[in-house]
Amino acid sequence: MSISLKNVSYSYRGKYQTVRAVDGVSYDFEPGKCYAIIGKSGSGKTTLLSLMAGLDVPTEGEIIIDGKSTKQWNRNRLRRDAVSVIYQNYNLFPLLTVQENIRYPLDLKKVPRKNATELAVKVRERVELSASYDNRLPAHLSGGEQQRVAIARTLAQGCKIILADEPTGNLDSTNTANIVKILCSLAHDDGCTVIIVTHDPAVAEQADAVLQMKDGSWI
Ligand SMILES: Nc1ncnc2c1ncn2[C@@H]1O[C@H](COP(=O)(O)OP(=O)(O)OP(=O)(O)O)[C@@H](O)[C@H]1O
Ligand SMILES: [Mg+2]
Repeated sequence: MSISLKNVSYSYRGKYQTVRAVDGVSYDFEPGKCYAIIGKSGSGKTTLLSLMAGLDVPTEGEIIIDGKSTKQWNRNRLRRDAVSVIYQNYNLFPLLTVQENIRYPLDLKKVPRKNATELAVKVRERVELSASYDNRLPAHLSGGEQQRVAIARTLAQGCKIILADEPTGNLDSTNTANIVKILCSLAHDDGCTVIIVTHDPAVAEQADAVLQMKDGSWI
C-alpha cells in the first residue's frame, strides 16, 4: 500500500503558544521499500508518524493512504486494515503469553482457532523465535525478543504499512541489526511499506532511502 504526504503541516495549539511541528512536508512512500526518517530531537518525526498512523489529522495538507485521505478513513479501520505501529517499548500485553500476543489481532478479527494458530506459528518463525517461546510472558524475554514478538503481531495483523518509532532505541547493536533486517525483509519480501524513525546512523544505513527532518521539514 502506498502512502503519500501532500504538503502536510501540523501545529500543536496550546493556550499560550502554537508549535508548528510539521511544516509543509511532501513525499510518496512506495510499497516494497524500507525508509528511515532521521533528525534531531524535536524535529517533528514522531508527530509526522502519528499523522501517518491516523492518530490525528494534518492541520494543513493531506495524507493519502490507499487512495484515500486520512481525514476520510475511519480511524479504527485504518489501524486494523492498513497501518500498524511498532514502538520503542514494544507495547506487548504483559499478562498474555507470546502466542496470545501474536494471535491477538486474529482473535479480534474472529479468525477460526485452527487458522489463527497456524498463522501465529508461521509469523513467529518468520521473526526467528522457536516454539519454546509460545507460552512465555513478555517480561521474561530480552528486549530484542520482545520486539520480535511485536513484529510478529504486526505480521499477523497483515498490515501493509508498518511505521516504527525508534524500534531499536533500547537494543544493542547486534539486536538492532537483526530487527532492522527483519523490518526490511517485510518490505522486500512481503511488499510492505516500512518507515522507521531513528536516531541511529547504523539503522539508516540499512534502509533503502533516508529522509532527514529539521524544524518540521525535509532537508
Ligand atoms: N503534545 C504536544 N504538545 C505541544 N507540543 C508538542 C507536543 N508533542 C510534541 N510537541 C513539539 O513538537 C515538536 C516536534 O516534536 P516530536 O515529538 O514530533 O519530535 P521528534 O523528532 O519525534 O523528537 P525525538 O527525537 O526527541 O523523539 C517539538 O518542538 C515538540 O516540543
Ligand atoms: Mg520522537
